[in-house]
Amino acid sequence: MIRVTEAAAIAAARWSGRGDKLAADGAAVDAMRFVLGGIAMDGIVVIGEGEKDDAPMLFNGEHIGNGEQPQVDVAVDPIDGTTLTAMGRNGAVAVIALAERGSMFYPGPVVYMKKVAVGPRGRGAVDVNASATDNLHELAKRLKMPVQELGVVILDRPRHNDLVAEVREAGARVLSISDGDVTGAIATGWPNSGADILFGIGGTPEGVIAAAALKGLGGEIQGVLHARDDEERRLAESMGYDFTRVLTTDDLVASDNCYFSATAITDGDFLRGVRFHDFGATTQSLVVRSRSGTVRTIETFHRHDKLQEFTLAGF
Ligand code: FBP
Repeated sequence: MIRVTEAAAIAAARWSGRGDKLAADGAAVDAMRFVLGGIAMDGIVVIGEGEKDDAPMLFNGEHIGNGEQPQVDVAVDPIDGTTLTAMGRNGAVAVIALAERGSMFYPGPVVYMKKVAVGPRGRGAVDVNASATDNLHELAKRLKMPVQELGVVILDRPRHNDLVAEVREAGARVLSISDGDVTGAIATGWPNSGADILFGIGGTPEGVIAAAALKGLGGEIQGVLHARDDEERRLAESMGYDFTRVLTTDDLVASDNCYFSATAITDGDFLRGVRFHDFGATTQSLVVRSRSGTVRTIETFHRHDKLQEFTLAGF
């Protein structure tokens, strides 16, 4: 799995700072698809780049891997933070999550989800339907910290203006991110990151991927689907989606045997981005396995000459 995100991150990093989101995303998708093809698994893309007609590769429902056992669901986000990558900003990652077949929530047409995420110590102390203020007080009690000490990750979007005001009114610190709420959710489960909780409306696919990571980290995410308009709500409801249901970590990824890998494209709080040098590239990745709860950070040196021997273009 780590090879998959390393390949995507290296490919995307070549486009970092060049202002071209589509080129960065295309390069990451190609690299990811290429490496995935050689992996011993019978995978189905549950979360990919969208529907088949719009996404030539890694589309939802696509079969990937070499067809051998195990049968798995696959969620990919070749770049979480396409704008961050294009602008050369911190915080972009390439991510993948894998879990036993049939165990991942399929977001369908519902692009957004209201989320709350916490690390291991906050598990069980939050409720996505409660107010931000109540959640902060419950979490502060659980962490034995004053609310004023809590770091709250929130995507910087106009839709969150009231939420930000409420969090500040409650006395907590807002850690505003311009993109990348998978990493934002992981930060809540990362020791000494300064992030204690994530609130707000972000991508549903990103919520599922974050659930896979938080399972291994021992944290928790809850979500409630959020429709952008009545048409989206009606369509989703006709497909059986329920906008009142609280989706727990286990609803998002039911299997206790899931894997998550993220490789930094640009620098981040806990991983350094891709560095190119005269003999190749260096990457830093985070690999999490839920069954064992093992969390690994892995630094890899990629020799350009060797990569070119067995990859499409040496990424
Ligand atoms: P992309 O890299 O696909 O653009 O996603 C970045 C991201 O910030 C996600 O991490 C987040 O869940 C989502 O976009 C939020 O959506 P929006 O930018 O529409 O508010």
